[in-house]
Amino acid sequence: MFHKLVVFASGTGSNFEAIAKACKSKKINAKIELLVVNKKNARVIEKAKKLGINYMYNDFKNDNYFEVIEVIKAINPTYIVLAGFMKVLKKYFVNEFKNKIINIHPSKLPAYQGLRAIERAFENGDNEIGVTIHYVDEGVDTGKIITQKCLNIKGLTLLQVEEAVHKVEHKLYVETLVNLLK
Ligand code: GRF
Repeated sequence: MFHKLVVFASGTGSNFEAIAKACKSKKINAKIELLVVNKKNARVIEKAKKLGINYMYNDFKNDNYFEVIEVIKAINPTYIVLAGFMKVLKKYFVNEFKNKIINIHPSKLPAYQGLRAIERAFENGDNEIGVTIHYVDEGVDTGKIITQKCLNIKGLTLLQVEEAVHKVEHKLYVETLVNLLK
């Protein structure tokens, strides 16, 4: 079966790009049908344009959810992939697409749920940092864990830690989607 994906992102889109390239090269058995952004100037939009992937903007305020829901239902994707989507989705949206929404979080969940996870781990002087891919439920980074990976960050600067985490994220997100979409 060939799969369809919808990706949600708010920022730089390095995870989006890694997934999109892996779909194009057929490493992941899927096509990204749509990128959904909640920030008008998100850098991820440029990446989508370069890759020829359709995108839509929605601020996810109140009733505006219904438009997104209709569009996604028409696509009927296997998964909605959150890749740096900085907005907590409303309960009815999560319920509408139960067990179909996946997120990546830069910590070994349940540690450092929520914002600034990398910075908080770094500020605490942790020697290890994690990356988690999980299903999305109604909470913030609380859904069932699909996979986790840890990396040693001893002696690294914050910038180096961020770079190292992103590298692991790209690889882990692609590998996880390869496995889920076999
Ligand atoms: C990643 O670190 C991801 O774990 C977090 O937001 C960041 C998004 O980075 N949820 P990018 O936009 O994919 O480059």
